[in-house]
Amino acid sequence: MNEKLIYILGIESSCDDTSAAVLCNGKILSNIVANQDIHTAYGGVVPELASRAHQQNIIPVVQQAIQKANIDKNQLNAIAFTQGPGLMGSLLVGTSFAKSFAMGLNIPLIAVNHMQAHILAHFIDAENQQKPPFPFLCLTISGGHTQIVKISDYFNFEILGETLDDAVGEAYDKSAKVLGLPYPGGPLIDEYAQLGNPKAYEFTKPRVGKLEFSFSGLKTGILRFIQKNVAENPNFIEENLNDICASIQETIVQILMTKIKNASKETNIKHIAIAGGVSANSEIRKQLKAAEKKYGWKTYIPNFEYTTDNAAMIGITGYLAYKEERFSKIDVASRARMKVDE
Ligand code: KG4
Ligand code: ZN
Repeated sequence: MNEKLIYILGIESSCDDTSAAVLCNGKILSNIVANQDIHTAYGGVVPELASRAHQQNIIPVVQQAIQKANIDKNQLNAIAFTQGPGLMGSLLVGTSFAKSFAMGLNIPLIAVNHMQAHILAHFIDAENQQKPPFPFLCLTISGGHTQIVKISDYFNFEILGETLDDAVGEAYDKSAKVLGLPYPGGPLIDEYAQLGNPKAYEFTKPRVGKLEFSFSGLKTGILRFIQKNVAENPNFIEENLNDICASIQETIVQILMTKIKNASKETNIKHIAIAGGVSANSEIRKQLKAAEKKYGWKTYIPNFEYTTDNAAMIGITGYLAYKEERFSKIDVASRARMKVDE
């Protein structure tokens, strides 16, 4: 007997990437991402410009995704879109498009929680990607979030700890800005860090609860350190960029590793996953792999293309929701704020 083929279109527009993906039974047929370069000049995402760019990109991006998947739009079984959290003006573009398209095709609509999608990206049917068994822990690290989540089933999430202020991605991006690097600076710090000495400088780590994070103090510490040194030597940054980046990266990754170790100890769960844009970071990937031997963990690291914002993760969440018939009403609203367990 032939297995029924379920085609899902995923749409992501929560921040500054317009993305559409087509999946067939959890396998990616296409995953198109249009980045918005326009924000680089402003050193951060400008919400109004993001919304306008989504409006320009959404139709061509969806068209391309369907074309590359080599299917007809009438073969789609459901449309999944990011409901939140994110920038309201950006979310509205994806939401309105998804609604009209689903209505036009007369197929179900599935509202997806972006934070859940980052985690559920681990269930994309792809080579070199193992699916974690339940329960597992996930360190979700992105430009907007830093949290440790316990996942007991596809749609059963519990936050064990999170940041009290800035997200880790912000710590990366703001440090990069102080160093005169363009936005988003996280990947650049990662790149320069590989050429530098991680022990060159020391930054004070925050003192918060065992499973809590705080990055605003670290950010200020880095800013003061740079200001002080540049006052003494105007070429301080250029002369020491690799060492500065390596030291910042070392501090941040040490914080992340300590917290996930605490969570594993407290829950006695040794299946450890990472998700979100910062999980593209080479050092956290390296240290997690090393922890497998050291602590008897099994770690789950998503393929590169599923770490930063993408529609494949929305599509897989849509597919899992489809199987449980978790459909949304046509009047479902975008939500700027949304917790992973909602
Ligand atoms: O998940 P994401 O694409 O968007 C949000 O939902 O926030 O994450 C974006 C964040 C940015 O802060 C970016 O600097 C960071 O992920 N990032 C990295 C790396 N690649 C992306 N941070 C450190 N190292 C990287 N290799
Ligand atoms: Zn994200």
